[in-house]
Amino acid sequence: MARKKISLIGGGQIGGVMTQLLAEKQLGDVVLLDILEGMPQGKALDIAHATPVASTDTRIVGSNDWKDTAGSDLYIVTSGLPRKPGMSRDDLLAANIKIIRDVATNIREQSPNSIIIVVANPLDAMVWATKELTGFRRERVVGMAGVLDASRFRFFVAESLGVSVQDVTTMVLGGHGDSMVPLPRYSNVSGIPLTDLMDSGTLEEIVKRVRGAGTEIVALLKTGSAFVSPAYGSVEMAEAILLDQKRVLPCAAYLDGEYGISGIYMGVPVLLGAGGVEKIFELDLEPDERALLDKSVEHVQRLIADIKL
Ligand code: NAI
Ligand code: 2OP
Repeated sequence: MARKKISLIGGGQIGGVMTQLLAEKQLGDVVLLDILEGMPQGKALDIAHATPVASTDTRIVGSNDWKDTAGSDLYIVTSGLPRKPGMSRDDLLAANIKIIRDVATNIREQSPNSIIIVVANPLDAMVWATKELTGFRRERVVGMAGVLDASRFRFFVAESLGVSVQDVTTMVLGGHGDSMVPLPRYSNVSGIPLTDLMDSGTLEEIVKRVRGAGTEIVALLKTGSAFVSPAYGSVEMAEAILLDQKRVLPCAAYLDGEYGISGIYMGVPVLLGAGGVEKIFELDLEPDERALLDKSVEHVQRLIADIKL
């Protein structure tokens, strides 16, 4: 079987951790691309020097030249500014949309048959712009946010109940921002509904903390945003696609009538396999859950209305 080729666009904080994770998992050879000269080459070389000890044959190349990404099976796009304290994800829009223009054009030229996972913020706008600018089918452009938000939700539940994180399953719908919609009714511990295990006050506190988790980390780090957990989330999605695992994960997917919504990206449960987003699952929502999703839709619609492609 031919080795897969994975190109990571943006060799910053998330890009570096992803390179390490992908090398350990041996999912394919990795190209780490950044506009900064020397930085991706240096990181790639450092991680390559660890491969003998880590017992992995993954080949890692750092580059500033898009041609090195030609023929990639998968791109993961983190190129874009991260938040600083006091900034919202939406404050990144103007700067990051310029970057995504350059990135989308290059991906289309170098690897017209690839699948793209977008991570850069504001996520729901960046992933939408990537689809519009590449002209790729919606199955082949997907956003990472729900896996991270659901993982944070899982962690807080496990911590509160004193149970293993492995036994907690959670669901988060909507945009990746303050309007995200964690869904306790679709969350459980080994099948036991969360709503049977926790009082509503505790659950509300946890939901609030999930919504604010990214901001909490920005305020602590002061120099950027979370980068280890987003790298794990992105690599989980990459693995599902590269190994055709048919995972069911909350991801930002382009909606075309699902949930009565069209023309935007929203976090929803999807089936991820070799074809990218192979299916979108529609959950039955209670009126209060639906109202929260509608608010999130409005937020994302407002965000993309400002974009001039
Ligand atoms: P970072 O600043 O460490 O890395 C970004 C890299 O992109 C920099 O090295 C920069 O030189 C590079 N870059 C800029 N323009 C480029 C271009 N045209 N081509 C190639 N590379 C380019 O940032 P970090 O922490 O890695 O975060 C990356 C993005 O991911 C940010 O926008 C951040 O807000 C977002 N993010 C998204 C999350 C999600 O759940 N979707 C979670 C955490 C962060
Ligand atoms: C996060 O959720 C900032 O989107 C980034 O950590």
